[in-house]
Amino acid sequence: MKTITVFMGDGIGPEITDAVLKILDAAKAPLEYEVFRVGAAEYEENGALIPDAAFASFEKNKILLKSPITTPVGKGFRSLNVTLREKYDLYANIRPAKSNTAVATPFKDVDIITFRENTEDLYVGVEQQIDPDTVHATKIITRKASTRIIKDAFEYARAHGRKKVTCVHKANILKLSDGLFLSVFKEIAADYPDIEADDKIVDNVCMQLVMRPQQFDIMVMPNLYGDIVSDLTSGLIGGLGLLPSSNLGKDYAMFEAVHGSAPDIAGKNIANPTAFLWSACMLLEHLGELEIAANIRRAVDEVLAEGTCITPDIGGTATTTQYRDAIIAHLA
Ligand code: NAI
Repeated sequence: MKTITVFMGDGIGPEITDAVLKILDAAKAPLEYEVFRVGAAEYEENGALIPDAAFASFEKNKILLKSPITTPVGKGFRSLNVTLREKYDLYANIRPAKSNTAVATPFKDVDIITFRENTEDLYVGVEQQIDPDTVHATKIITRKASTRIIKDAFEYARAHGRKKVTCVHKANILKLSDGLFLSVFKEIAADYPDIEADDKIVDNVCMQLVMRPQQFDIMVMPNLYGDIVSDLTSGLIGGLGLLPSSNLGKDYAMFEAVHGSAPDIAGKNIANPTAFLWSACMLLEHLGELEIAANIRRAVDEVLAEGTCITPDIGGTATTTQYRDAIIAHLA
C-alpha cells in the first residue's frame, strides 16, 4: 500500500474526486489517501487556500493527486498551481492528448504529448508598473531549466518508442530567450540520433495542429506556449474533460487534470471526470502499477465506445455518478 495525498479542490473538484477515488478503490489500486479540502472554501473558513497539514502530507508522501482549484480574482492571490509547481520544483508538465475513436471530433489519429517547462518563462510573475500606463513583465529562460525539460522529452521518446520531438518557440522574435531554449534543444537533440528532431515557430504550430495534427508526436516548449498549445491539443481530442497531466520533479510528483474548477457546471453532477481519472492512471503508472492502470483505461474505453453513458461535454446525457458507475461495472 502506498499512501498518497489528495487535494479535493473546489468547483467540480469534490465531484470528480469522489468519482475517481471510488473507481480507484473498485479497481483495487493499492493506495491509501490523505484527503484535504483546499481552495476558496478552505480559505474563507480557515484563512489559507492550502492548509499547512496538506503541504505537510505532500512533503511526506511525495505524490499528490490534485483536483482543480479556483484562483480567487484580486490582488494578493498567486495561482496555487504556480505556487505548487515552484515550491516543489515540479518542472516537467506532461500532457498527453490522444484521439479516442468513440469521441466524435473532426480530427482523427491525434497522439501528441506536450512537454511544458513548468517553472519559469513569464510565469515567474515578475511584473513592474513603470508608470500608470506602462507595465513590464519579465520572461526568464535558463539553460538549466531548458536542459532538464528537453532531456526529459527525448528520454521519454526513447523509452516509449516515440519517433519525433518538436521544439516549439518564437526565436525569430525573442532571439535571446527563446533563442537559448532552441539552441539547448539542438545541442541535446544531437545526443539522440535515433529520434527525429525538428523545430517550429509557435504560431505556425497552432495552424499546423488544426490542419494536420498527425504530423506531431512529442512537443517540447517553454511555459506559456505549453499552457496555450496543450489546451489546443485538448480541443483536437474532444475537449478539456479528456486531457490529463503529470507534473514531475526530482523529488515530488503531482497529477491533475488540465482543466480548471469549471464553476459554470459545479454542483450539477455533470462534470466529466475522465481527465482526472486518466491523471490518476498516470499516477499509477508512475508507481509501477501498470496492470491496474490498464484495467481502468480499458474500462473507460469500453464505456466511451458504448456511448450510452457519457457526460454532456462529449455529447451524452449521463451524470458524473452514472458514468463513474458504468466504468466500475466494466472493470475486470
Ligand atoms: P475551466 O477549465 O474550469 O473551464 C473551461 C470550460 O470547460 C468551462 O465551460 C467548463 O464547464 C468546461 N470544463 C472544464 N472541465 C470540465 C470537465 N471536467 N467536464 C466538463 N466540462 C468541463 O476554465 P476557467 O473557467 O477558465 O477557470 C475556472 C477556474 O479554474 C479559475 O478560477 C481558474 O483560475 C481555475 N483553474 C484551475 C486550474 C487548476 O487547478 N489546475 C487550471 C485552470 C484553471
